[in-house]
Amino acid sequence: MQLGILYGISVGTGDPELITVKGLRILQAADIVTFPQGINNKPGVAQKIISQWLQPQQTTVPLYFPYVRDQNILESAWQKAAAIVWQYLQQGNNVAFACEGDVSFYSTFTYLAATLTKLHPEVVIETVPGVCSPTAAASELQMPLTVSNERLIILPAIYTVAELETALDLAEVVVLLKVSSVYKQVWQILQKRGLLESSWVVEKATCSDRKIYHNLQYHPHLQLSYFSLLLIRVLKTAL
Ligand SMILES: C[S@@+](CC[C@H](N)C(=O)[O-])C[C@H]1O[C@@H](n2cnc3c(N)ncnc32)[C@H](O)[C@@H]1O
Repeated sequence: MQLGILYGISVGTGDPELITVKGLRILQAADIVTFPQGINNKPGVAQKIISQWLQPQQTTVPLYFPYVRDQNILESAWQKAAAIVWQYLQQGNNVAFACEGDVSFYSTFTYLAATLTKLHPEVVIETVPGVCSPTAAASELQMPLTVSNERLIILPAIYTVAELETALDLAEVVVLLKVSSVYKQVWQILQKRGLLESSWVVEKATCSDRKIYHNLQYHPHLQLSYFSLLLIRVLKTAL
């Protein structure tokens, strides 16, 4: 039997219409649709985004990816997920993995794909690009992410003060992902540098319950969800 194909599909950051035409076509044609399992028995973010696009005959398979840093726990989860996906591929089913945002931008899919390739080098994997959170946030803010020769630095997480200071020295635009747990420390650095007025927080960009915080000097304490990012314009470029 011919092996099925595993597709990593970018489904965008919240608004279901942000999936590409190609992503939607492949998603709806897949026999099996997988996505990261939600927490506390709630649907996951990618699952919610694609729910309106799913077809009655499709089988949905949530995959468990724990939110931990322990490498052993993570690898064991990737292997279990890979084994589940492989079972379907071996039976000739095409499997679509729905990825929040863009599939190549800090995505769990990368680990799943790497684990599968290591275990089964014959596996066929294709990805479909899409909208990632920095571009979605810029759109929510009604501003370009970058213009002209501006340099952009994206810090993915757990940045040290020194890392952030270096980024602010080097780039005109700095985007901080996973900012919720370090917001207070970041706020202090931005205050010291006089950058609070040219910084924005976008929470749940393109979702129906998205929030935007302008002028952060009035927001020293924000309780943010995991799906939040902070965008800093270090130099004001004339637009
Ligand atoms: C593991 S990364 C995943 C990035 C995702 N693949 C993408 O393309 O944006 C998770 C971080 O991305 C950012 N993020 C993802 N979706 C977001 C959204 N809708 N609004 C704001 N930030 C978001 C947050 O900073 C979050 O902590």
